Amino acid sequence: MSAGRFITLEGIEGAGKSTVALALRAELEGRGLDVLLTREPGGTPLAESLRELLLRKGGEVLNPAAETLLMFAARAVHLDNAIRPALASGRWVICDRYTDASYAYQGGGRAVSTALIDQLAAAVHADLWPDRTLLLDLPVSTGLERAKSRPGAPDRFESEQRSFFERVRAAYLQRAAREPQRIRIIDGQGSAAAVVAAALAAIADLLPAAAR
Ligand SMILES: Nc1ncnc2c1ncn2[C@@H]1O[C@H](COP(=O)(O)OP(=O)(O)O)[C@@H](O)[C@H]1O
Ligand SMILES: [Mg+2]
Repeated sequence: MSAGRFITLEGIEGAGKSTVALALRAELEGRGLDVLLTREPGGTPLAESLRELLLRKGGEVLNPAAETLLMFAARAVHLDNAIRPALASGRWVICDRYTDASYAYQGGGRAVSTALIDQLAAAVHADLWPDRTLLLDLPVSTGLERAKSRPGAPDRFESEQRSFFERVRAAYLQRAAREPQRIRIIDGQGSAAAVVAAALAAIADLLPAAAR
């Protein structure tokens, strides 16, 4: 059995993360790999309950620090109950958002200090960063247009101003510039097929030889 790998997908709303995640799972399963496709916040029953609290609109004030703490609480639950066990049994994990999203959304978007996010990341998963992170990048206007075309009312994040997503995008790009080996920027503007092909190329070196 080859070792499982931990792949995360990042990007603003409508960047194509969920689309690419599904296609990557199909590609990897087609090559004989055992894949867990999961998402954040969420991924286990308890963490999905926290997701619901985080995405719900209206009601009480949820300040940026509290939002950040809830995100990391959900992440800790998700890691212990889904991600770590899957990796330990040799499965590949494809996760739709992870800690880079906390730096981008809570750090970039809501001005939570990087020091706080660093501390929480160290406390929750000092030992576990993704083997590869695919940052699907595209203009905010394109992403928001796509997100709007999806069914359902916009959630608490999707309802943010365009300027919020500009800060989120900038924070993602800044992180990618600092960690170019782990975080690969993928042009999210092409056709879905082109984006999936680029995503696959960006993880090809991680695949066992028989699955390349
Ligand atoms: N490369 C693409 N070109 C055009 N439309 C796309 C592309 N990728 C995804 N979409 C569509 O855009 C919308 C948002 O994509 P989605 O994968 O849900 O984004 P995310 O998960 O990043 O918010 C969906 O309706 C999806 O079908
Ligand atoms: Mg999605």
